[in-house]
Amino acid sequence: MTTVPVRVVPRGFGQTTRRDAWWAVPAVVFTILSAFVVYATWAAFEGQHYTYGPYLSPFYSPEVFGDSPHAWFGSKPSFVPAWLPFSPALLILPFPGLFRVTCYYYRGAYYKAFWADPPSCAVGEPRKGYRGEHSFPLVLQNIHRYFLFIALGFLLVLAHDVWKAMWFINPVTGQTSFGIGVGTIVLAINVVLLGLYALGCHTLRHVIGGKCDELKSDTRATAYHCVSCLNARHMVWAWCSLVSVAFADIYVRLCATGVWTDWRLL
Ligand code: FES
Repeated sequence: MTTVPVRVVPRGFGQTTRRDAWWAVPAVVFTILSAFVVYATWAAFEGQHYTYGPYLSPFYSPEVFGDSPHAWFGSKPSFVPAWLPFSPALLILPFPGLFRVTCYYYRGAYYKAFWADPPSCAVGEPRKGYRGEHSFPLVLQNIHRYFLFIALGFLLVLAHDVWKAMWFINPVTGQTSFGIGVGTIVLAINVVLLGLYALGCHTLRHVIGGKCDELKSDTRATAYHCVSCLNARHMVWAWCSLVSVAFADIYVRLCATGVWTDWRLL
């Protein structure tokens, strides 16, 4: 066998022979994720206008402590120092936030978009060594498996919020009756999209598939197949659910401040 020596020349940062607009996707990812983080941080600290009638913003659900009728355990506890910024969202947003930050898809997207590591496929990197995710700090990304189970719990809470968003109090008689408003639809679409995202989690495939070479139970095989189907579109559901959760908060907020009118459909 003849061998042909090939000289590998490391590329400098950003150097590539690609002719397409490889920078476009990282730029869009950077813009959308930055806008989301800025808005979600502002909305979490704002601490007001997060409910409207039976609607509760998903940024504030579950409302563990708070002043709205949705709060599970009443107002802010007295042991929280007055100088400490408090908002019901600050207690819960870290959990879905860390679920997304450690998601396999988002990692690939923001590694490129935020610290250009690599800027894109076949584009020169800013450093020479590669330690991967086996060493600190990126080894911490492995906590994703735990946040998956927390996220599944959040899905149940948000689904219950949709149920509660179907019961409206008549301001004159004080009676509660069934109804559907645009806000009910917004919250319902949001929980469906979040479900399509979370249930297509790469880790969930491992949880269901385990270490088996063959899935013997039909139920398990069906579940594995469903999760795999969702996982094939994981990127799509990741972005759709990100937009929908922000929009659901904006919708509730603008209704609560009187900017938008919530139309009743039923
Ligand atoms: Fe994306 Fe788990 S891999 S949510």
